[in-house]
Amino acid sequence: MSRPDPAEVIITECRNGPLLVRGPFVLANDRDARRARPRRNVVALCRCGVSTIKPYCDGTHKLVGFRTDEPNRADGAGSDGAGS
Ligand code: FES
Repeated sequence: MSRPDPAEVIITECRNGPLLVRGPFVLANDRDARRARPRRNVVALCRCGVSTIKPYCDGTHKLVGFRTDEPNRADGAGSDGAGS
């Protein structure tokens, strides 16, 4: 297995949880102002909407029972296209 390109950003959908972002990136707001250049190699971004430290995940998704659909796969498997 080859090593990932260090310049490549990889975003992983965690089932029933956050998005994990790996790689070099800058977090900006809707006015395109740079907010942060995370120092960690991996950052978890909230997608349940209840984190107290948005946009980062604080683990609250577990307490509220956040559920996701099966992540969409590039080959179309794992998604029925129904959106629910
Ligand atoms: S995804 Fe973890 S707190 Fe929202």
